[in-house]
Amino acid sequence: MRPVIEVSGVRKTYGKTVAVADASFEVHEGEIFGLIGPNGAGKTTTMECVEGLRKPDSGTIAVLGLDPFRQVYKLQDRIGVQLQQAQLQKRIKVWEAIDLWASLYGKKPVDAKRLLDQLGLADKRNAWFMNLSGGQKQRLSIALALINDPEVVFLDELTTGLDPQARHAIWDLVRDIRVRGKTVFLTTHLMEEAERLCDRVAIMEHGRIIDIDTPEKLVRRYCPERTVVLDVEDPGDAGAHFQTIPKVESVTCASLRFTIRGQGDDLVTEVIHCLSENRIRVTDFRTILPNLEDVFLKLTGRSIRE
Ligand SMILES: Nc1ncnc2c1ncn2[C@@H]1O[C@H](COP(=O)(O)OP(=O)(O)OP(=O)(O)O)[C@@H](O)[C@H]1O
Ligand SMILES: [Mg+2]
Repeated sequence: MRPVIEVSGVRKTYGKTVAVADASFEVHEGEIFGLIGPNGAGKTTTMECVEGLRKPDSGTIAVLGLDPFRQVYKLQDRIGVQLQQAQLQKRIKVWEAIDLWASLYGKKPVDAKRLLDQLGLADKRNAWFMNLSGGQKQRLSIALALINDPEVVFLDELTTGLDPQARHAIWDLVRDIRVRGKTVFLTTHLMEEAERLCDRVAIMEHGRIIDIDTPEKLVRRYCPERTVVLDVEDPGDAGAHFQTIPKVESVTCASLRFTIRGQGDDLVTEVIHCLSENRIRVTDFRTILPNLEDVFLKLTGRSIRE
């Protein structure tokens, strides 16, 4: 796959603040790529450099083969940008905002009616911006980012502050953008969002990228531990049997519930094998798999929410 965005050795400071110390990554055509990290990690700054809104102190960036800072006008028609916490005039109507945005581009805009339908804003066409709910404002800002039928879409913290329902609706929408063959570059500090939405993620902290990969591979790389929690009818010698399972690190028991911790993908199979071999009857069985949140904790020593 050909890279749509190429970032190499980018550094950006604001006075004494080093917002981005050193960032290098590529975004491939047709993927949803996420830049994840805690508040202040440098995500927005990196994205704004890629969009051509800010000039990096050093390093190089290419978007669709163009220099986003020097060739910003050429690029503008081909990208769509949703800014973190964008505000519009209070009394601009939804359709007016769409019309205004469409007029900014040197090419034919997409079918605005269809776009508003897709974003669930059809019945808000005549509403003022100030009378939209947070989720509707967010959807409008995504509509504005898509009005020029861009090849690359930039979404900065697209679901921050939304309720779970609105969030899921917006995730579906972003997946639709990918289905239409477009490339999506987004930032988020929600690990669940990254895990569910992104094909690949770059983990950023203190202006540096720590690692880049698919969420699954990152989890496998940094968090190979697995946990099985099961309830038995009669503990008997079960605990002793569980201790003999290969790669088991700890077995704890509270009343009839065992928690078995160990390493590697085979742990669960080995536990099931042990249960059947020793005819241990279970009344409940579940596995706990680590996620990106755990990866973040492992890599940085702190939770992303701290
Ligand atoms: N225009 C600016 N002037 C000065 N400092 C800035 C400016 N914009 C960002 N910073 C600083 O640069 C650092 C990185 O900020 P940035 O907005 O890129 O982080 P972020 O990862 O997007 O955070 P968040 O998750 O809160 O959106 C922060 O320390 C911030 O205070
Ligand atoms: Mg930000």
